[in-house]
Amino acid sequence: MTSQPRIRYRLRRAFSHFTQPISAWVISLLCVVLVSASEPLIPALLKPLLDKGFAQTDFPVWQVPIALIGLFGLRGIGVFLSQVAVAKATNQGLVKLRLQMFARMQNADLVLFKNQSASALGNTLVFEVQNGALLMVSSVMSLVRDSLTLIALVAYLLYLNWQLSLIVALLFPAVAWLMKIMSKRLYQITRDTQTATDELAYVVEENALAYREIRLHQAQSMQVGRFQKLAQKLQRLAMKTSIASSGITPMTQILSAIALSGVISVALLQSHQTGMTVGGFAAFVTAMLMLVAPIKHLSEITGPLTRGLAALERGFELIENTPTETGGSYTSEKARGQIVFEDISVRYQDDLPWALQHINLKIEPGETVALVGSSGSGKTTLANVLIRFVEATQGKARLDGVAVQDWNLLSLRQQFALVSQNVVVLNDSLAANVALGQTPDEQRVVACLKAAHLSDYLATLPQHIHTLVGHNASTMSGGQRQRLAIARALYKDAPVLILDEATSALDNESERLVQDALQSLQKNRTTLVIAHRLTTIEKADRIIVMEHGRIVEQGTHQQLLQAQGAYAAMFKLSQSTGVAPSQ
Ligand SMILES: Nc1ncnc2c1ncn2[C@@H]1O[C@H](COP(=O)(O)OP(=O)(O)OP(=O)(O)O)[C@@H](O)[C@H]1O
Ligand SMILES: [Mg+2]
Repeated sequence: MTSQPRIRYRLRRAFSHFTQPISAWVISLLCVVLVSASEPLIPALLKPLLDKGFAQTDFPVWQVPIALIGLFGLRGIGVFLSQVAVAKATNQGLVKLRLQMFARMQNADLVLFKNQSASALGNTLVFEVQNGALLMVSSVMSLVRDSLTLIALVAYLLYLNWQLSLIVALLFPAVAWLMKIMSKRLYQITRDTQTATDELAYVVEENALAYREIRLHQAQSMQVGRFQKLAQKLQRLAMKTSIASSGITPMTQILSAIALSGVISVALLQSHQTGMTVGGFAAFVTAMLMLVAPIKHLSEITGPLTRGLAALERGFELIENTPTETGGSYTSEKARGQIVFEDISVRYQDDLPWALQHINLKIEPGETVALVGSSGSGKTTLANVLIRFVEATQGKARLDGVAVQDWNLLSLRQQFALVSQNVVVLNDSLAANVALGQTPDEQRVVACLKAAHLSDYLATLPQHIHTLVGHNASTMSGGQRQRLAIARALYKDAPVLILDEATSALDNESERLVQDALQSLQKNRTTLVIAHRLTTIEKADRIIVMEHGRIVEQGTHQQLLQAQGAYAAMFKLSQSTGVAPSQ
């Protein structure tokens, strides 16, 4: 198997992540050599015992326990040390690899999250690499240990009787051929198993996220069916793996039996001519039988090695094949906040309609611009182009006259505070969530929470701002979560503020209060407000009306009302449905 260049390359690549600390490998290798080299001592001790111990009366019996206990004691220490040393190298490599993968996740191009589900990524980072590392390293160790044992035993056999050893030598090509066939088959099954495991984990992820919807719509049995189908697929693959790897043991054993019968027959025939002693013969057969164990191990290595490599390679692919987000070099401590959209068009996929078409818009520093328009008209997309969550298919977006692509990504995103439509809260303290990415300044956190009208909520918390908000803020109401996002935006204090339906989950009274806080924030700051409730935006310097990815109207509230166009119609509708603007 090691003769395949491909697997040799793969092994070298995988192993290179686990070479540190070198001292661990040196210790481990020394121990393994000691243990393997001492293997023939067992049959070697047998020879004098049989030839002399039973024949002579003055045989020093006390030597037997000393030799045996000494031998096994030493070997035991060797095995122990080598395993601990290898575990150290494995775990150290594992941490490094995981950190690399997680770091890549942080700077990966955003397509990664489109192509891979959270559970698939979790699977790769948490389970696959661990499994892979353990399997691969233990296989490599076994490869070294068993090869050395094999060499030691074969050398001893050659020393005892080289003719007989030739028969034993025939075993090797046969076993190598077996292993080659199996590794090919197992590789494919392993890949299929990974995909099936991801699918299964994804169903669990979805069901954990959507448990309310599933129960409300009585979709449980459907989900169980879906899960069952995937679980059974995994079961079939597991059976295929077992069948492939189980077949190999009996096959090796049969090969060994053939060799054994050959050796015994020839030895018996030879004994008349060469006068081989009983002790010599027993030592030979024992050493030969001891060969079976390393041969068996070596033949069984294919399965775990293939599985381990395939698992690790998933991690390597993540690190090596995931493109990183690319940015330019322009940086600014604090942008002035001038925004220009130059003929921006966006299409999410070639076969989808345009989400934005030829948008031209200039927003001056400090201006508050509102985007309105029906759902799906492209408002969020336009905002996302600015922070490069979406790349414009055509055209250029500029901040302070510099194309967003030419901005250093960190610096670019530092210029924006965003309250988005779906608020995501991390499983951390309230303070850490408000000051996300920065070390929380307690007073500022409290001030921002107060401005976001969360003081009442804060008063109910047992540990004040240090209370854990639970996984995805499961302990907060929708409106509270939204206000937390607003507090986060206030805390960030960035030159450009994007409010995408920032107050949609609030009641009228809270909205008015939060609005006041936001308005004071909007002073001297470029603001992009997206809202369905027109009350929120009528004070904007300019209102942009969008339809089907195009700008259809723009002007102030008064101008647009007078124009009697789309905005006026929307405004009329909002009044008749009772969401009246405050005058
Ligand atoms: N990730 C995506 N992949 C494919 N299409 C998308 C994606 N995000 C949005 N779209 C499509 O682009 C269009 C504009 O979406 P966008 O989210 O910008 O609308 P919106 O004006 O913000 O709507 P809403 O008021 O409902 O939030 C929609 O037709 C939507 O289906
Ligand atoms: Mg939107």
